[in-house]
Amino acid sequence: MIPTALPVIFILNGPTLNMLGLREPAVYGSETLADIEAACHRRAVLLNLAVDFRQSNHEGDLVTWVQDARAHAAGIILNAGAYTHTSVALHDAIRASERPVIEVHLSNIHARESFRYHSYITPVAAGIIAGFGGQGYVLALEALEGILARTKTGGQHS
Ligand code: DQA
Repeated sequence: MIPTALPVIFILNGPTLNMLGLREPAVYGSETLADIEAACHRRAVLLNLAVDFRQSNHEGDLVTWVQDARAHAAGIILNAGAYTHTSVALHDAIRASERPVIEVHLSNIHARESFRYHSYITPVAAGIIAGFGGQGYVLALEALEGILARTKTGGQHS
């Protein structure tokens, strides 16, 4: 059956991820956020998902977008950047969204400074993918597709 409307996945990116490509390439690689977005769209087509890809340097924007997912998305892929390690507000918004969240990090946060070991996102995430660069976003899309297929919440459309 050809779907009339595809499940929407919010892919939300936090502070300084707009600088990928320029920012610490030894840690984050040479891919830009636009490159990652394009790869996500290519994969989403094959998975019958629609991607809404966003970035903000402001915590409140990310909180609002996570809240909006409750009505407008079937799932969320979240790289909260540094807010991962500080944001009770994002933790609470995820709980309220009642949508599956895959936490993504380009770098392996457990192989870096100890202040990156703790995440406020992990306890409310379905899973975490870290250390695979931009490929992690594509892996997260595949994981979400599996979750939606199992829970049949893929009917949530925007
Ligand atoms: C990051 C890891 C965070 O610790 C850092 O603050 C970032 C990027 C990552 O994708 O590896 O901004 O989330």
